[in-house]
Amino acid sequence: MSKRRAEITGWGKYVPERVLTNAELAQMVDTNDEWIVSRTGIKERRVRSESDNTTSMACAAATEALAVADLKATEIDLIVVANSSPDYLLPAPANFVQHALGATCPAFTIAAGCSGWVYALVTANQFIETGAYNNVLVIGVELISYALDYTDRSTCILFGDAAAAVVLQPTTNGAGVISFELGSDGGQAHHLWVPGGGTVKPVSQDVVDNREHYIRMNGQEVFKFAVRKLSACLSNITQAAGTTVGDLDVIIPHQANLRIIETAARTLDVPMDHFFVNLHKYGNTSAASIPLALVEAIQEGRLKSGDMTGMVAFGSGLSWAGAVVKMGEAISNPKGTPANAAMPVVN
Ligand code: COA
Repeated sequence: MSKRRAEITGWGKYVPERVLTNAELAQMVDTNDEWIVSRTGIKERRVRSESDNTTSMACAAATEALAVADLKATEIDLIVVANSSPDYLLPAPANFVQHALGATCPAFTIAAGCSGWVYALVTANQFIETGAYNNVLVIGVELISYALDYTDRSTCILFGDAAAAVVLQPTTNGAGVISFELGSDGGQAHHLWVPGGGTVKPVSQDVVDNREHYIRMNGQEVFKFAVRKLSACLSNITQAAGTTVGDLDVIIPHQANLRIIETAARTLDVPMDHFFVNLHKYGNTSAASIPLALVEAIQEGRLKSGDMTGMVAFGSGLSWAGAVVKMGEAISNPKGTPANAAMPVVN
């Protein structure tokens, strides 16, 4: 019998209906489809419709994940939401999500930018390993379009809105989170941040006039950091798991930029077909990026029971987070089906 670990037993996703294409962005800022595709690999992204908010998107993904795991909301022991684009500054999204789902458990939010969901996965895994909780819902949701300056061509082309969720349950059959690495380099915080609207520069007419309530980014510095961390973190977590990057069945990198993934693949000498990529459809969905890719990899049959995957995220902080996760029996034989998902009424 192996150590008690967290197995993925349910999964779900939600993306807004509204597609924002590169051609549409070219009508808003001085850019074009060819530039965006060649520099990032992104062809389109989703942005919120009027009926979408952070809570509703999180609940849609969570409801599907619960249906796949065949769990009722009242059976959840803990909800962890990774998010940096909350509906309200206070309280954080997890409490709204808990109420809207009809769950009665504790809930908290992790704000670690694009690394948030892997931080949340690793945190949730600790509660399961210790035996404190059995059924944990881990959601990544981002309505990041609200923080984008659609006059800044260096940022608005990159990001999109989405949500994805998994259910974690204990197993002793060898599956689960095998190794992880979490990291922070706050000395580089100003390379990707929202300078206004917090306590240092509270919302004011000046902040709004200077557009400081939107994301600001030093793209080249973030690019260098991302390439370094994606390669180094994948090497570290696979070594800790007693395997190699080349032996992973599927690598799920943060979906920020195809060139970042290609550069890391070359550095690691691992073929690109080991990497799951869906950023051409969604852009960078921040904390939803890794779980959205994970859910699509499962739904497309790229992952099956027994497979080892390495997930690595990087982003605002600057931060990074990676985990090697072994897929359990539920990946090929889930207890339930997404068709049974019953959406709660969000109010
Ligand atoms: N369309 C057309 N031109 C653009 C553009 C756009 N959307 N955005 C920037 N440019 C221009 C720049 O103004 C610059 O013009 P100049 O040479 O006349 O000054 C030129 O393209 C090159 O800019 P540069 O910043 O060197 O481009 P790049 O190859 O580094 O690509 C990013 C820019 C943003 C795509 C790239 O740096 C990147 O992806 N960085 C990482 C960002 C990221 O992943 N952030 C999230 C992490 S979680």
